[in-house]
Amino acid sequence: MDLKIKNRHALLTGASKGLGRACAERFAEAGARVTLVARDERALRATCDEIGTRYNVRADWIVADTAKPEDRAAVLAKCPDPDILVLSSGWPKGAMQATPWDPAAWQGALESMLLGQAQMLSTVGEGMARRGFGRMVVVTSRLIKEPEFELALPAAARMGLSAYIKALSNHLARHNVTVNSILPGIFDTETQKANTARLVAEQGLTEAEVVAKRAVFTPAGRFGTPEEFSALCAYLCSADAGFMTGQALTLDGGAHSGVL
Ligand SMILES: NC(=O)c1ccc[n+]([C@@H]2O[C@H](COP(=O)([O-])OP(=O)(O)OC[C@H]3O[C@@H](n4cnc5c(N)ncnc54)[C@H](OP(=O)(O)O)[C@@H]3O)[C@@H](O)[C@H]2O)c1
Repeated sequence: MDLKIKNRHALLTGASKGLGRACAERFAEAGARVTLVARDERALRATCDEIGTRYNVRADWIVADTAKPEDRAAVLAKCPDPDILVLSSGWPKGAMQATPWDPAAWQGALESMLLGQAQMLSTVGEGMARRGFGRMVVVTSRLIKEPEFELALPAAARMGLSAYIKALSNHLARHNVTVNSILPGIFDTETQKANTARLVAEQGLTEAEVVAKRAVFTPAGRFGTPEEFSALCAYLCSADAGFMTGQALTLDGGAHSGVL
């Protein structure tokens, strides 16, 4: 599929690894220039070098922690006018327990999973609207449809973000600027490898047993791949997807049990 984004500029957060990196590869393959954001400079540089060389496009990097307002401001100053924005960073450092009441944990969840994204979408969206083209995608989680108490903080923050995305999409749609979110189920990335390792240690099972136990809740019977994720994101960011906006798209191998 021709995404028709050759020579467009894509800014992606959380892009040195996992879902964000897979999306960056799709854009680069389509001839777009990419700017990648993450915290660890070494991994970020290595990813940029690989993408730039493999797809023969310009690939820049910005070291930043998107949970920090000053870092977000620096990213927006260095890359103020992208045509495509994909926000895939989000999980805060430290505890996120819902009880006992912990204002710092709530603030951490809101900063890294709501305020940061809202700031970047709002700021970048204004320029996109002036230029008459923009595609924005935010990675949230399937959890917002079926919140678990243990993950109540990220679910609450991301649900608030989803409401903002919908409202912003209405505001920007007439300018050929779209805003959508993707709600992943379980995808085989480093985050999930770390989760699996933790469960192996906690439950005394083998890695294969833990993976099988978790995959059984997904009708597809397996974890998703970053390439399957980036295929959807690439469509949402393609030039031809201008009528597709304000949607929260679940991508989970059928795990969500409801119709909506
Ligand atoms: N994989 C899944 O099953 C799954 C399911 C539901 C939701 N999600 C969501 O999808 C998003 C991407 O997850 P993933 O599975 O792709 O994770 P991943 O493979 O661990 O990659 C995360 C990427 O984000 C960067 N990052 C993390 N925190 C950051 C921060 N505060 N500022 C800037 N960059 C940051 C990481 O690099 P540095 O560490 O160097 O910063 C890395 O490049 C996350 O928001 C996650 O909650 C994933």
